[in-house]
Amino acid sequence: MTHAPTISADAGGHVTADGRHIGGVMMDMRNITLRFGGVVAIKDISFDIREGEIRAIIGPNGAGKSSMMNVMSGFYVPQQGEVWFRGEKRPQMKPYEVARLGIARTFQNIALFDGMSVLDNIMTGRLTMMKSGLLEQAFWWGRAEREESWHRERVEKIVDFLEIQNIRKTPVGRLPYGLKKRVELARALAAEPKLLMLDEPMAGMNVEEKEDMSRFILDVNDEFGTTIALIEHDMGVVMDLSDRVVVMDYGRKIGDGTPDEVRNNQEVIDAYLGVAHD
Ligand SMILES: Nc1ncnc2c1ncn2[C@@H]1O[C@H](COP(=O)(O)OP(=O)(O)O)[C@@H](O)[C@H]1O
Ligand SMILES: [Mg+2]
Repeated sequence: MTHAPTISADAGGHVTADGRHIGGVMMDMRNITLRFGGVVAIKDISFDIREGEIRAIIGPNGAGKSSMMNVMSGFYVPQQGEVWFRGEKRPQMKPYEVARLGIARTFQNIALFDGMSVLDNIMTGRLTMMKSGLLEQAFWWGRAEREESWHRERVEKIVDFLEIQNIRKTPVGRLPYGLKKRVELARALAAEPKLLMLDEPMAGMNVEEKEDMSRFILDVNDEFGTTIALIEHDMGVVMDLSDRVVVMDYGRKIGDGTPDEVRNNQEVIDAYLGVAHD
């Protein structure tokens, strides 16, 4: 059975209660199935993400949320299904090719270079955008040098935006957990993505750090118009931030709708909301 899109890529826009513009479908996941040997991590799931929205993916541990994000970003190739991006079927691509489409992500487990400064880590987020070759960049010759200073300038803007000026030169390995997560966000933003995917950006954070991260996510969406896909366990955060929510359980999709709709969905309550989880 194929999933028929209900709306075309440029149709169906609306303005939210808080004045943000939501456009047509940006990414359309159609009938995705992903297996690891005998384990079916994703079973025939379809959902879409609209331009400008904040879309949450929730569900218990092992539900298949990170696997789904890995399919979206090209890290995993599904056995079945299609990924559509801005009205076109995306051919099988390497993660760096997906990044060039304007899709950036952070990982559930922090993946930064501990020995490198905050600034240099954020610079690595711009690699997919750099025109001159890596060797040229290493020696800062000619075009590479001019390009380097332009990229530095953009990175400094992101540093200001995320309020991490005071740790710019600090090696990432010395930072507390909450700040590392913020640097990861900065690195993803350095690619100036159209679609930003965040895998549990607030896991392990205290209340204050979560509030900061929530504010930054909202600001990124609001000020840059960046579309955001977000995996998160804290239901308060999900309900506050997201326009729509996909609920996964054992690789299946058991709910999809506005925060209010999924909160009142009995299957979602039974599988996830009604039980204790971290
Ligand atoms: N690389 C992998 N190799 C084998 N099994 C995997 C791999 N990644 C995920 N899985 C399995 O797929 C299922 C979904 O995992 P995951 O996507 O990490 O769930 P979630 O992010 O919702 O906690 C789990 O059963 C997990 O063990
Ligand atoms: Mg996960």
